[in-house]
Amino acid sequence: MCVDDLQALLNPVELQVDTLRDPLYQQREVEVKLLRLDQIDNGISGNKWYKLQHYLLTAKQQGYQQVLSFGGIWSNHIHALACAGARFGLKTVGIIRGEPESASNAMLTDARRWGMRLQFVSRLEYRQRHEPNYLQSLQRQWPHALLVPEGGAGVLAMPGLAGLVTQIQAQQLRPDYLITACGTGGTLAGLVAVAPASWRVLGVAALKGAGFLYDDIQALLAQAGAIPQAHWCIDLEGHQRGYARTTPELLAFMSAFEQRHAILLEQVYTGKMLLRLHQLIENSTFAPGSRILALHSGGLQGRRGLDPAALATL
Ligand SMILES: Cc1ncc(COP(=O)(O)O)c(C=O)c1O
Repeated sequence: MCVDDLQALLNPVELQVDTLRDPLYQQREVEVKLLRLDQIDNGISGNKWYKLQHYLLTAKQQGYQQVLSFGGIWSNHIHALACAGARFGLKTVGIIRGEPESASNAMLTDARRWGMRLQFVSRLEYRQRHEPNYLQSLQRQWPHALLVPEGGAGVLAMPGLAGLVTQIQAQQLRPDYLITACGTGGTLAGLVAVAPASWRVLGVAALKGAGFLYDDIQALLAQAGAIPQAHWCIDLEGHQRGYARTTPELLAFMSAFEQRHAILLEQVYTGKMLLRLHQLIENSTFAPGSRILALHSGGLQGRRGLDPAALATL
């Protein structure tokens, strides 16, 4: 699918839902469905489809000349933003963590091809990405740019994610549990803000030691004036040694999953989230009869960041 008109981005999209059949799920008497956000659009992938909508609209409607955001050299968010910019006629700027000389890969090549201006910054400078003084200095450098937080994790992401919740309800999926991978926590915050009280929303952190996500998510919810009805929590044990790291266990799980279901995953978010879900089911965390809906949040371009030896095992 390819949407060229920015307003059309907001139209509800009928979502593909796959039931995952696995002997373990049968044994534990749980139903697991996968919401295929990866299938919505090749370029503006997965959860980015929802998170970026209102940033892009605001940029257009308020006459910004560029949209600027932050990410690492394999960032799915930067990739999706660059693609969206090219498609909807918005200039984009990426503040990229990394030295320019080390930074050429498939993601950055795509971003450049889509016309994104890349500005490489040291790790030290990148750490300031949330600090008001740093943001002011960037705004002075790019006076006509709309600044979008890393991962699109800001209040403007929330109406788009509310649209996703509405769509899940429209498709009568009625999950007991909604589970998603967490990077910045922006997606979880947007879902939790409007999820009905009957859902339990679970995030699986892709980062090690990600307890700070509770504060970040609470802050986003407060900023948006949202009072969550649903119970929510974050699982901190599914990171597989840390952000963007892989383990033999993760690669073996992804390989088996991809073969069994003929659905591709990537190693940073969706692979880890589904492995953790598998472990939680194994540990009988969910009562028999539970309906679990997992989000495939896309990001498959990031598979290209796997080293060739690891890729060969998939
Ligand atoms: C594929 C994928 N899944 C999940 C996430 C996590 O989303 P968030 O940063 O909103 O927690 C990301 C990051 O945007 C992502 O690229």
